[in-house]
Amino acid sequence: MDGNGRWAQSHGRPRLDGHRAGADSVRDITRASRQLGIEALTLYAFSSQNWARPAEEVMGLMTLLREFLIGERSEILDNQIRLEAIGDVEKLPPMVKEPLDELRTASAMHTGMTLTLALSYGGRESIVRAVREIARDAAAGTLRPEDLDVDRLTGYLPTAKLPPLDLLIRTSGEQRISNFMLWEIAYAELVFTDVLWPEFRKEHLHQCLEVYAARERRFGLTSAQLGLDPA
Ligand code: FPP
Repeated sequence: MDGNGRWAQSHGRPRLDGHRAGADSVRDITRASRQLGIEALTLYAFSSQNWARPAEEVMGLMTLLREFLIGERSEILDNQIRLEAIGDVEKLPPMVKEPLDELRTASAMHTGMTLTLALSYGGRESIVRAVREIARDAAAGTLRPEDLDVDRLTGYLPTAKLPPLDLLIRTSGEQRISNFMLWEIAYAELVFTDVLWPEFRKEHLHQCLEVYAARERRFGLTSAQLGLDPA
């Protein structure tokens, strides 16, 4: 969800106003995704590296997260959405951690859509955590190194219970991944849009999905193998 700062700057407003406008996009895109029947939506809301931003901005983002978790609680529950989080959530202040834990528990049985907030999240950090746990299991004798394969490693990641990642959208014109779901993007389609996150609305999501639908996903196979060759 990139471009909040630039959006604020272009309107002559403080950066936090950009994040506030970005939170409106979060609501719109979550609603639209649920209506479209998307199984899982993961939003990169705060990276492991974002802690190093000015304290005032970090505090403002934490306040917005709290407001979201409290303000959207009933809509999330009414719409059968399961709220999840990935990342080093233990680092979050209680003002965020408490409503987050509460909503995770309250929505745990919901099957309508999984909304995952990536908070204090880094793709490399997630892989390091997984490897650490794998090493522990190997040392304890519960995992034989020769049994470790792609599926096993995937099972150690915080995204293990999510469906395979199909589409990654990055807003604001930047064409890089910035430490997001590094393992999971192996066969994901990447769509980059110039729209700044605070202006990203359901129409833009629809456009990204159209681009995705026009892609040919081959997973290392040939078009002919997949029966996709024109006659
Ligand atoms: C990146 O834009 C965005 C963030 C670091 C924060 C994203 C947070 C929100 C959209 C609001 C709160 C989230 C929820 C789930 C309610 P940037 O600040 O790096 O933008 P810039 O590159 O233009 O400076």
